[in-house]
Parts: sequence; structure tokens; C-alpha cells
Amino acid sequence: MSKPVDSAAANVARVESAAGTHEFPIRSGTIGPNVIEISKLYSETGYFTYDPGFTSTASCESKITYIDGDAGILLYRGYPIDQLAEQSNFLEIAYLLLTGELPSKTEFDEFEHAITHHTMVHEQLHRFFSGFRRDAHPMAIMCGVVGALSAFYHDSTDINDPRQRLVASRRLIAKMPTIAAMAFKYSIGQPFVYPDNDLDYTASFLKMCFAVPTATYRVNPILSRAMDRIFILHADHEQNASTSTVRLASSSGANPFACIAAGIACLWGPAHGGANEAALNMLVEIGSADRIPEYVRKAKDKNDPFRLMGFGHRVYKNYDPRAKVMQQTCHEVLDELGVKNEPLLEVAMELEKIALSDEYFIEKKLYPNIDFYSGITLKAMGFPTTMFTALFALARTVGWVAQWNEMIEDPSQRIGRPRQLYIGHTPRDYVPLAER
Ligand code: SDX
Repeated sequence: MSKPVDSAAANVARVESAAGTHEFPIRSGTIGPNVIEISKLYSETGYFTYDPGFTSTASCESKITYIDGDAGILLYRGYPIDQLAEQSNFLEIAYLLLTGELPSKTEFDEFEHAITHHTMVHEQLHRFFSGFRRDAHPMAIMCGVVGALSAFYHDSTDINDPRQRLVASRRLIAKMPTIAAMAFKYSIGQPFVYPDNDLDYTASFLKMCFAVPTATYRVNPILSRAMDRIFILHADHEQNASTSTVRLASSSGANPFACIAAGIACLWGPAHGGANEAALNMLVEIGSADRIPEYVRKAKDKNDPFRLMGFGHRVYKNYDPRAKVMQQTCHEVLDELGVKNEPLLEVAMELEKIALSDEYFIEKKLYPNIDFYSGITLKAMGFPTTMFTALFALARTVGWVAQWNEMIEDPSQRIGRPRQLYIGHTPRDYVPLAER
């Protein structure tokens, strides 16, 4: 089968095969690469496409997030991430990603009131935690407890009812901080702290994480602003692995809580959201700048599975715009906390400098991604490394929920069911045990 010919004039791609020439429409979005619509390829030619890892596959239409990997551009509903990180707040971003527009004051106040009054979880949910060992990874707890929400909120699991979808969306966004904070408190043997409706979304989350019954907790506004900005940076990112997992799970009609739990499970992997935890562990292992060349060599060695965690990206072949904001936030937090000469930051910055001047990384267009600096910041704020990906999941729930709603409202969407290139045995007869 020959390569499709992009006849822009005819606005079709032509595929020639033994069965003749077939034309498939080329479609354009508002910005970004065109697509060849191949949904009829198999029925017309008997061929599948083959694209492991979906490097050249668009799985859906979406209006939510746009990434230009070559230019290092990230837009949420058309707004550049650096402007949003600087001027907006996470709950406003949640409204923007969900609805497509920035809210008026009245709209934001209604949304914030609704989210604030969904932040508590059913009291019986507390018992789920005692079933885990104290050293359970917070992501293991998040997978289990978020999935278990399906057992508590039957009045918002009918995905075909827009009202129930709205309630489920708001419940998930509201309860993720509470569940993440409970996972953290459980892991350190401290009592759960309830949400505080007198505080904003992120300040209440920090209080749930760091308040103790024996003292009055005051939120540090600089740290709360930094945490809120980190949530903004992690809110959505087009059709990444965990978002695609949520969409695929939702395509079968599964309830929203189960689908978000599936997204959490996928995000946990070190190649994806788990990279923030892995990146910090890597910086700790490197320990000092003089050991960087040894690790850069390992990262370049084809026979060594080691990779520089927090480096590289399927889409960004330029600096991840979120990493720039994350690095600025890292310096702000360390300054606010009076942390001078943080050795991990010094190793990270030296590693970045060496890697970005190394032919291997230049040729493969490997740049720091969002996970490279986030861990240093979160560690300085008092979070253990094992909580980093849970914080990513908390923020990404907004994107998952927005993408979930968009998929259900898309009339062209149907159950996701890829095919394969079969390379197994041709038919053969069973051989009874006595004859083997
Ligand atoms: C996130 O998709 C998203 O949008 C994800 C995310 C989001 O917000 O949802 O942005 C969040 O997951 C960020 C990525 C976090 N992961 C890491 O930092 C882990 C380290 N990075 C890599 O594992 C890798 O870069 C990936 C997984 C991120 C991307 O993998 P790809 O696109 O499949 O690229 P690849 O593995 O085919 O690598 C291309 C080449 C390979 O060399 P060759 O086989 O071509 O010779 O680059 C090399 C790789 O060996 N390479 C690296 C490297 N990343 C890629 N070499 C050393 N160190 C690295 N980090």
C-alpha cells in the first residue's frame, strides 16, 4: 500500500492498493495539523492503519486544549498557559475548561459556591482508608477511593443525563483535594482534616494537608498561590495517555467515577504523571553536579534502560512552556521558605544546562517537561515524593472531566475498539496431552 498522497487541491488523500485507488477526505481544524479521515479505510481497502503509541493518530475532535509541540505553545480554550498561570486561578481554569469561556463574577461565584459545598466526602468513605497499610502509595489509595465513589453517588452516574453529568463533574473536582489530603494524612498517621469553606479551593487543600488539631493553621498566601499555579499547569493537556484512558473507559458507558479512577491508574506510570516522583528520586540519586556526566552517559546508552526523568515529551520538541513557569514557581517557593542553595535545584539546573548543550538531546529534541522542576517545589512545600503524582491527579481531574463531557456530547463518538496486526499462529489442530 503506497503512502497517502496529500492532494491539497483536491482536499483528499489518495491511497493506492491492489484494489485500486481510494480517496479519503482531508480535514482542517482551526489551528494545527490537518487530518486524513480514514474511518472507512478498512471497509474500502481491507487494510488497517498501524500506529503503535498513536504517534500520528487523532482520536477525536476537541475544543479544549491545543499544543504546538514544535513552538512550545499550550492553550486552554485558546488562552496561553503563561497568561493563565500569571493572571487566573485554578477554579476559574476549571470553569473555563468545562464551559469553554471565562466566567463572569456571578458565574464564578455560583461555580465556586457549588464546588465548595461538594468538598466533603461521605463519612463512611473514611473507613476505606483504614483498609490500606499505612505505607500504601497515595496513588494506590486514590485509585481505590475514587473508584469507590461510584458506590456512594448513584444519583450522578447516568452519563446520558446532563444534569447528573454536571453534578458528577462538580463532585469529582470538589472531592479530589479532600481525598488526596486524606491519603496524605493517612500515610503520616495524622487525623483527617475537614475542608474549610471559609478558604478558597487551594488554601482549603493546604489546610487539609498540613493543619493539625493541636494548633491554629494559617495558610501562607505565597505558597497557596504557588500551589494554585501548579494546579493550573497540570489541569489539562490534550489527548495524553491518561486522558485517552478516561475517554476510552467512558466510551463503553462506564460511570464517571470509574473512568476517572482509570485515568488515575494510567497517570501513575513513570513515563507519564509518575515522572515527577521519578524525577525527584533521580535528582536525589545523582546527588551532586559532579555525577551528572555519568547519568547523562547512562541516558544516552541504548543498552541502559535509564532515562532522564522529567526530560522529553511525545509532543513538545521544544521547551515545555509549563516547565518554564514551574521553574519560576520553584524559585519563588524556595525564596519564600528561605531555602538557600537547595542542592537538588542546583543539580537540576546543572543537569538541564548540560543536557541542553549535548548533541544527543539536541538531535532528539529532548527538553525538560513539566515534571522536571515540580518535585523540588512540592518537596520544599512539605509534600513527600509519593504525593507528587496524587497532586498531579488532583489537578488533572479538571481536564479529565472536561474531556469526558466533551466526548459524551460528541455525536460522532462511539465505543473505542482498535484492531491489530496479527502476527500469531495460523489455525492449527489441538494435540491431546498423551500425544505431546
Ligand atoms: C507527562 O502526553 C502528555 O501530554 C503527558 C504530560 C501531560 O501533561 O499529560 O505532558 C505529562 O507525562 C510528561 C512526560 C513525563 N515523562 C518523563 O519525563 C519520563 C522520561 N521521558 C520519556 O520516557 C519520554 O520522553 C516520553 C515517554 C515522555 C516520550 O516518549 P516517546 O514520545 O515515545 O519518545 P521515545 O520514547 O520514542 O523517545 C524518542 C527518543 C528515543 O531514542 P531512539 O530510540 O529514537 O534512539 O528519545 C529518547 C528515546 O530513547 N528519549 C530519551 C528520553 N526521552 C526520550 N533519552 C533519554 N532520556 C529521556 N528522558
